Amino acid sequence: MNSAQIVILDTGGQYCHLIARKVRELGVSSEVFPSEVPTDKLRHARGIIISGGPHSVYDDFSPTIEHDLVAAGIPVLGICYGQQLISQLLGGSVRKGDKGEFGLAVLDLREGSSRLLKGVPDHQQVWMSHRDVVTAPPPGFRVLATTSTCETAAIEDETRRLFGVQFHPEVVHTTHGTRILENFVFTICGCTKDWNPGQRVALVEDEIRIRVGERNVFFFVSGGVDSTVAFSLCLRALGPERVRGVYVDTGLMREGETEFMERTFSQLGAGGAQSAVDIARCEAEFLQPLELVREPELKRHVIGEQFVKVQERIIESRGLLDGHWILGQGTIYPDTIESGGTAKAATIKTHHNRVPGIQKLMEAGRIIEPLADFYKDEVRAIGHQLGLPAELLNRHPFPGPGLAIRCLCSEIEELVTRIPEGWLIPVRSVGVQGDARCYAPVLAIESLSQEEATELVNRTTGVNRVVARVAAREPLDRQRVFASSITRGRVELLRRADAIVRELCHTSGFESKVWQFPVIIIPLGHGECRDSVVLRPVQSVDGMTADSVGMPDALLHEITSRLMAIPDIAGVYYDLTHKPPGTIEWE
Ligand code: XMP
Repeated sequence: MNSAQIVILDTGGQYCHLIARKVRELGVSSEVFPSEVPTDKLRHARGIIISGGPHSVYDDFSPTIEHDLVAAGIPVLGICYGQQLISQLLGGSVRKGDKGEFGLAVLDLREGSSRLLKGVPDHQQVWMSHRDVVTAPPPGFRVLATTSTCETAAIEDETRRLFGVQFHPEVVHTTHGTRILENFVFTICGCTKDWNPGQRVALVEDEIRIRVGERNVFFFVSGGVDSTVAFSLCLRALGPERVRGVYVDTGLMREGETEFMERTFSQLGAGGAQSAVDIARCEAEFLQPLELVREPELKRHVIGEQFVKVQERIIESRGLLDGHWILGQGTIYPDTIESGGTAKAATIKTHHNRVPGIQKLMEAGRIIEPLADFYKDEVRAIGHQLGLPAELLNRHPFPGPGLAIRCLCSEIEELVTRIPEGWLIPVRSVGVQGDARCYAPVLAIESLSQEEATELVNRTTGVNRVVARVAAREPLDRQRVFASSITRGRVELLRRADAIVRELCHTSGFESKVWQFPVIIIPLGHGECRDSVVLRPVQSVDGMTADSVGMPDALLHEITSRLMAIPDIAGVYYDLTHKPPGTIEWE
């Protein structure tokens, strides 16, 4: 596509492609370009949106745009970093704010009408993720709205049709974000509807046939929504003789998962006599090398590379190496963004399907990822269109590296310390702050208040996550973090805890109220009782942002008493952190 009405300029933001998708959902064609694309290539566009990003506009080598773009007569909307960039280029000033603003905020409109904010309430919920701020808008600009932390939450120069917002209208947490994008796209840019999402299944099937050509496709299926939908699309596009699947039991699966896979795929079938999927049991191959690593990114690499080794062995043993076969994957759009897959986005976590071995196959043109442009909710909609069972489509996402990234490890033994805000637990987890990765310790508090947690995590330097202590056999002052690695015993403990939580969430119906409910173990305890469980129920639309959600008291009580009945568990904690600054998984 090179005639899209709206062009999104990518400055490395985690939500860049989400903007493109939101515009398409409005029925308008959109396309993403690197931010520094020459202005001449953009003259066809009716409007330009500059995305957010992890950099600071005042740093050397930070992403920029062609300077004449702001004078080309095309309407421009800068989001977050995009607003800061417009401001800096046109003579305003940008500097680091006194404190960050991550998560929900209230936007207060100033007096006076504006086409950009037309039809939205005077006070409304928006979603922020920034530390830098525009301290003075450029000459000719007017401030349209503020928040308690940000004096320049929305700005405009209506004469030159240049606009900026510090918040993110593209994420669902900005309640009236869609209206703001509509205002920009239709009222300001004058776009017409030219994009129809209903045609996507046929388009994807055509793409599969073209890309695969005469070859066949071989899949590693996980039982998750993404790989099952990708696999089914290939089955439909190419026919059962040309598509094979293998499910690898890594020993890092949830309880009962392999049996679920057997059932599901025997029902799905390949449409022929043979089952579409074989099961390979490879527990030791994954657990042994994992015993030596503790750092999250290393774990992810070990698992990814192990997948590649197992895959190579299976491909070789089945004679799939002759160039007639390529590998299919269920990679979806957020996987590639969060793995640093777009030009400038920071790497938050390397997903198992983006490790070097896979990259090599990709470069050799031997990978097909039919869902790489889609978000989770779109993948579910495609699955629905394909007639896949709801039981499968409604499953919670489960990460490729499995329980390994929910079994936290520590290099050394360390004490828990008391600080004014609570207890500092020296177990580090991955988070995302201002679009960049962070790896920081956890703050434990007594209260289950999400507001308090959000406030504390923004205020407490060096912390990216807040948990509430729900139960513990010993006070936190008497507990410590133990040197620990991934062992079969710890994985089994985690599997058991996870199965209890899953069972109770299923029977109580809570399962359908959350997007995902990771259960994590951390090496926090005392004496011989060396692990604690963390509950992490979250609500999300696409995994890119998420809210920690509360659960009914009775359910929490029941989960806790069942978990504390396991003698090896030292305590139960509740993760109160939204994403950002925490991520959904701890690693
Ligand atoms: P985070 O932890 O980054 O997770 O907030 C966002 C969503 O992605 C899932 N996730 C993964 N999925 N392979 C996957 O297929 C992975 O390596 C992986 N890591 C995280 C996570 O469960 C959540 O739904």
